[in-house]
Amino acid sequence: MISIAIDGPSGAGKSTISRKLAGMYGFVYVDTGALYRAVGLHFLNAGVKAEETQKIIDGLSNIQIDIKFIDNEQRVFLNGVDVSDKIRTPEVSLMASAVSAIGKVREFLFDLQQSMAKKHNVIMDGRDIGTVVLPNATLKIFLTASAEERARRRYEELIARGMNVTYEDVLADLKLRDQNDSSREIAPLKPADDAIIVNTTGNTFERSVTILSGLISHKLGL
Ligand code: DC
Repeated sequence: MISIAIDGPSGAGKSTISRKLAGMYGFVYVDTGALYRAVGLHFLNAGVKAEETQKIIDGLSNIQIDIKFIDNEQRVFLNGVDVSDKIRTPEVSLMASAVSAIGKVREFLFDLQQSMAKKHNVIMDGRDIGTVVLPNATLKIFLTASAEERARRRYEELIARGMNVTYEDVLADLKLRDQNDSSREIAPLKPADDAIIVNTTGNTFERSVTILSGLISHKLGL
């Protein structure tokens, strides 16, 4: 099986670029952030606070997370309910970042992620795909961009979805998440030693897709 790991901070364009690349190569696109978001949503709904680590660990036994593909799009199910749309709010983003710092949560999601790469040719995006989940990935890319550019993209995305947010809040949230994701002890956000680092600041979407598809085609000998 072929696996392309795409890691990087939030808002670097991982999901839109990965989805496009998966379509081009006929691979399955796996968005692992959605799994952490589903876990975050579960505990938000249960009224558990981000700092109640033990409650979160104990509560994992009540959660079943599944991935299904409907019309080639990944859908995430939390205890049998499709939560793919509900997990896209700023509250869930912060809770996902908090729960993702807990080792037991990462262990809980590990097998599901690995099993996807065993069954399909995948483009898998996340934070620790190249370093932890798929250390033997065919190709590892670390996608990044300046915080301001990432915040601007995320802001436009949220506004387009009809959410009432300000650019300043989005930038502040993003910096907080960067800080959480990079400074945690377990599986911190960092490029794998053998990852190719691609900075998309100032690139159009098409330009970034061209750069990454160039890397993939070269690696696959296409
Ligand atoms: O990519 P995203 O913004 O949907 O991810 C949500 C959160 O989940 C993010 O703050 C970091 C965390 N995450 C992670 O720790 N490891 C992954 N492989 C994917 C996401």
